[in-house]
Amino acid sequence: MAEATTGSGLPKGFRSAEQGWPELSRIPHPPRRLPLLGDVLGASRRTPLQDSLRYARKLGPIFRRRAFNREFVFVWGADLAADMADEARFAKHVGLGIANLRPVVGDGLFTAFNHEPNWQLAHDVLAPGFSREAMAGYHPMMLAVADRLMDHWDRAVVTGRAVDVPGDMTKLTLETIARTGFGHDFGSFERSRPHPFVTAMVGTLTYAQRLNTVPTPLLIRRAARRNRDDIARLNSTVDDLVRARTASGGGEGDLLGRMLETAHPETGERLSPENVRRQVITFLVAGHETTSGALSFALHYLSRHPEVAERARAEVDRVWGATATPGYDQVARLRYVRRILDESLRLWPTAPAFAREAREDTVLGGDHPMRRGAWALVLTAMLHRDPEVWGADAERFDPDRFDPQAVRMRPAHTFKPFGTGARACIGRQFALHEATLVLGLLLRRYEFGSDPDYRLRVTERLTLMPEGLRLRLERRSPDAARRPPVSASGTVEGAPSDVRCPVHRAAN
Ligand code: HEM
Repeated sequence: MAEATTGSGLPKGFRSAEQGWPELSRIPHPPRRLPLLGDVLGASRRTPLQDSLRYARKLGPIFRRRAFNREFVFVWGADLAADMADEARFAKHVGLGIANLRPVVGDGLFTAFNHEPNWQLAHDVLAPGFSREAMAGYHPMMLAVADRLMDHWDRAVVTGRAVDVPGDMTKLTLETIARTGFGHDFGSFERSRPHPFVTAMVGTLTYAQRLNTVPTPLLIRRAARRNRDDIARLNSTVDDLVRARTASGGGEGDLLGRMLETAHPETGERLSPENVRRQVITFLVAGHETTSGALSFALHYLSRHPEVAERARAEVDRVWGATATPGYDQVARLRYVRRILDESLRLWPTAPAFAREAREDTVLGGDHPMRRGAWALVLTAMLHRDPEVWGADAERFDPDRFDPQAVRMRPAHTFKPFGTGARACIGRQFALHEATLVLGLLLRRYEFGSDPDYRLRVTERLTLMPEGLRLRLERRSPDAARRPPVSASGTVEGAPSDVRCPVHRAAN
């Protein structure tokens, strides 16, 4: 699949900012720019996003960076980002980081160019797989995978071992998407090392990110060879999975079943076997990396904010009562737990930027002319910290920012962890349901003890993850989980003051 790069090593169709922004010189860039190399002084190959956050604070709501022969524009001010959300004038841009994944997933849903027919076809075939009915069908499987995590964590409690949060969240979310989407079990919790699919996936994501920071892929030939092996591993894993399904049948209503069986409702077209392979890899990757990061950051903040954890536990105990298996509808009722997730995704949107391109010549924010096809990265991680929107204390973790009234007071398009427009995340509800359910279960079962010496470090490989996060767990007493905590005044915490009979809690 040589289509994705040109002889210069740049993705086909890549436009450096000089070509698209007639008044580029008015957009600030970091000081100490070097000829040929660009803005490399003080920048790290491993943390491009965190470097961009630093520059953003110094350079303002729109700025540019240059690495070798490529220049990019970054946008994060709320007004400019809102302008870029205008679907009439802007569309998704399959930019560097994403285009680098095309050798792996080609015209799969996430990496397809807007004009490629397989995007609409796959979108229409798969969208019902994320409907409310489909999600309710996935719910028992999500619960079953969460049980495996809790078995694993219970053993850690018994042996007094700290748990590896990002590692275990990755196992959980991979098993969840594999099981709900494709009826597959990677056996992640039974393995001492990551499944080879996960190793190959991390390899390809890391390689795709590296390509952004080298002048030509010729400099990383060994890594390119490893990447080819990784891609072969991903393909063969998925081919085995599809073969097994075709032989055994079943799986009606899951994503693979839809891909193999469903014709487009209007055109009657079906996905080709090659495209099915690309979509399965897309969903296995997109469906777990970002959610595992979101859960990991949320657990980090919960361990650092015991008062938030207590309030969330009170909610879980009140809404779920003693039921061992909360039902589908009981998950969306954990409103405070959901705010914790939103606030974690605000501070660390695990897909920390997305790219938008001008459909026609236009002027961004009434100030910056752009030619058709010119593009910029919306730096979500900084948009979510814009002090004009989030206040001078934007760095502070505070789930009450997502209290409905506070949300109503904020301008539109200021919280975008799932992207925007027609190409926004198709798995948003899936991710939020899974993550809220799992946080609820974990809050109900454990107290999270953090290592006081741990300082949050964030690793970047296209998505974000708290590096080296470990927690010491204690089991809550079964009684505590069954009974809503009672405050000194004798009222049930977290309960609205009207009803709440402690005997008939199920009615709450
Ligand atoms: C917290 C979890 C998640 C976050 C933060 C997230 C974030 C995003 C973002 C920002 C985009 C837009 C990218 C762009 O504009 O270039 C996107 C697209 C996408 N996401 Fe997610 N995602 C999450 C979970 C999931 C899950 C669970 C699935 C699948 C089950 C999924 C599948 C996809 C797919 C297929 C696309 C491409 C959609 C299209 O272009 O039509 N994501 N996601």
